[in-house]
Amino acid sequence: MTKIEKTIEWIKQGETEGFSRMIDQTIIPYEYKKVDIKTTKDMYDAIKTMIVRGAPAIGIAGAHGVVLAAIENKESTDFCSDVKKQADYVNSSRPTAVNLHWAIQKQLEVVEKNKDKSNDEIIKLLIENAIKLEDEDIEINKKIGEYGASIVPKGATIQTHCNAGALATVGYGTALGVVRSAFEKDKTIKVFADETRPRGQGARLTTYELTRDGIDTTLITDGMSAYFMNKGMIDVVIVGADRIALNGDSANKIGTYMLAIAAKYHNIPFYIAAPKSTIDPNIKTGDEIVIELRNKEEVTIINDKPICTDKVNVINPGFDVTPAELITGIITEYGIFKPDEIHKLFEK
Ligand code: MRU
Repeated sequence: MTKIEKTIEWIKQGETEGFSRMIDQTIIPYEYKKVDIKTTKDMYDAIKTMIVRGAPAIGIAGAHGVVLAAIENKESTDFCSDVKKQADYVNSSRPTAVNLHWAIQKQLEVVEKNKDKSNDEIIKLLIENAIKLEDEDIEINKKIGEYGASIVPKGATIQTHCNAGALATVGYGTALGVVRSAFEKDKTIKVFADETRPRGQGARLTTYELTRDGIDTTLITDGMSAYFMNKGMIDVVIVGADRIALNGDSANKIGTYMLAIAAKYHNIPFYIAAPKSTIDPNIKTGDEIVIELRNKEEVTIINDKPICTDKVNVINPGFDVTPAELITGIITEYGIFKPDEIHKLFEK
């Protein structure tokens, strides 16, 4: 099997040094370039400015952020508390995707469990754990893909939103992992990718990824989905998620909710594909999910040019919450669940 190129990976320089290397997603498809992130401040900025984006990928960025925090504090006499402070700072870069918090917590557990060891030993363990999380992410996505392929009818056209692909994870993707796995079995499947304004992850990233894999992909604008559903041209909708509540309510890129309503009206199945780490066991419903508000320039400026008068009001929520009742199923690495069953993943 060919080795998957990682979207984000820790580059080791000995056992206790190194840095995070990631694909710069702000410049695709114009350029394909990797950047090296060597400080917690740069990691905060990389997540905030979306050099790295997508819930599982920013989770790994968070895990790397804790390693960088540990390296920066390697001489500290109050190591655990200093690392925790820096970890909280990285965690504050984006509020909605729970994977960021989840992966940072995983790293802080390593710090806590090993607090009696030397700073160098803890750094070594943090690096090992970060690389383990990277590898596990790819394995999890492949399982999601395997389970998800079972709900894709032969010759289906799949509508997706934003980018829940290899670029949004360490590799393979969640929603696009399902597409990839379905494509391995049936070369006739097709994808409709919407643009996903304002940041254009669908247009810039999803079409880039899928066409590179030879998958038949059609780009549509965000307002076109209901039209194509009405024409019978969409068979199933599959998207990712940034945070799922215990009742199945799911936050994902702004516009997902509208797509789910349109799918329901047209009797088209609507699936979320996400790892267990995207489910937040601490929240009962989607009302508790904090929605990131981003800057107005993302809406008003395209290719460095304003598209509207500067007198207009602008509001730019990055995500919306799709109510559980609109979701046919949640595809995870443990199988496919009805939204009202997803809480079972946390019961022994
Ligand atoms: O703002 P973004 O690009 O980070 O938003 C990403 C999404 O909404 C994805 O659909 C989600 O993170 C799932 S990625 C596997």
